[in-house]
Amino acid sequence: MTRNHPGFSTRAIHTGQEPDPATGAVTVPIYATSTYVQEEIGKHKGYEYARVSNPTRDRLETNLAALEGGIGSRVFGSGMAAINAIATMLKAGDHLVAGHNLYGGTPRLFNQVWANFGLTFTYIDTSDVTNVERALQRNTRMVYLETPTNPLMELCDIRAISDLAHQHGIEVVVDNTFMSPYFQRPIELGADMVIHSTTKFLNGHSDGLGGVVVCTKPEQSEKLAFLQKAAGAILSPFECWLILRGVKTLAVRMLQHDCNGRKVADYLAKHKKVQKVFYPGLASHPQHELAKRQMSGFGAMIAFETGSLENANKMLRKVRVCSLGESLGGVETLISHPATMTHAAVGEEGRRKIGITDGMVRISVGIEDVEDILADLDQALAAI
Ligand SMILES: Cc1ncc(COP(=O)(O)O)c(C=O)c1O
Repeated sequence: MTRNHPGFSTRAIHTGQEPDPATGAVTVPIYATSTYVQEEIGKHKGYEYARVSNPTRDRLETNLAALEGGIGSRVFGSGMAAINAIATMLKAGDHLVAGHNLYGGTPRLFNQVWANFGLTFTYIDTSDVTNVERALQRNTRMVYLETPTNPLMELCDIRAISDLAHQHGIEVVVDNTFMSPYFQRPIELGADMVIHSTTKFLNGHSDGLGGVVVCTKPEQSEKLAFLQKAAGAILSPFECWLILRGVKTLAVRMLQHDCNGRKVADYLAKHKKVQKVFYPGLASHPQHELAKRQMSGFGAMIAFETGSLENANKMLRKVRVCSLGESLGGVETLISHPATMTHAAVGEEGRRKIGITDGMVRISVGIEDVEDILADLDQALAAI
């Protein structure tokens, strides 16, 4: 039996992860060097200076492009640096349409940095494609989406929005951090670029920051390579190596995250102290059908309503297996309070508009034994 296209896990483990040609080392080496020796002026082995290129980084960029189905990718020092790189692809006078419920750091970057350089932004509910159409302006150059959103788990239809945007010559960028390419591949649905905070599921072990932009066109990749060289927010070879190590187990981790996530969501949905659960895997989620169509799993991100700041605090003080902290996507269960953590920068009024309450708690379900996670939540919720 011949197979022309290796499967996802084979790509994760082997693409860009080939044995080191110099030594046969089965794991990609960490090329910890700032510069490269040249034989004579202009004669070198393809590497001149580490801000411009590094072999460990090259390997990671090849690997992540293969996982998302892009033609190339460029990695940056954090997810925010990757999103910043996206913004630099626009010019003063350009307009960007974005979802109204993004990771809080994204509108902070757009509104408090890029708005000072002549970019304009319109934030809308992207779960309805007609809102996107209404928000387009003569100078709109980009639609920026997060699906599912953080923390409300709202979805948008990547294919429908991409089709619409392309009719107007507009590019679509999707932040795919929550699902990872294992459960959702926006490029296959029409997106032009995909970004990740690799800090989350791609790395998966809560031990390094990073960000990536996956491209579909050589000119995007060239622009971003120029930006790595010109602005320098590149990812260190050690962090690249951590992600190369992490992605080898992405598929098995995501399957376990998803399995535990479904059980935790079911448990929370039945709990009498929990007023509402936001999880696309629940049949009660308003976009459950779109979730089944667009993603091949529902993942590990769940938000739920405890009713008040006091209730949220009461339960968050009690968790023991779950760790109270920012971030997500690690093997350990992380639980957080969006209003004071990830979405503090959005402001009270902004949070009220999109529906992030003081009683909302977000959980990134890890891959511990699910019985232990459930028992921990049970004793913590008893404090309310
Ligand atoms: C969906 C999403 N995108 C982007 C980011 C920013 O990534 P980083 O923290 O790696 O800069 C985060 C961080 O939490 C996130 O949750």
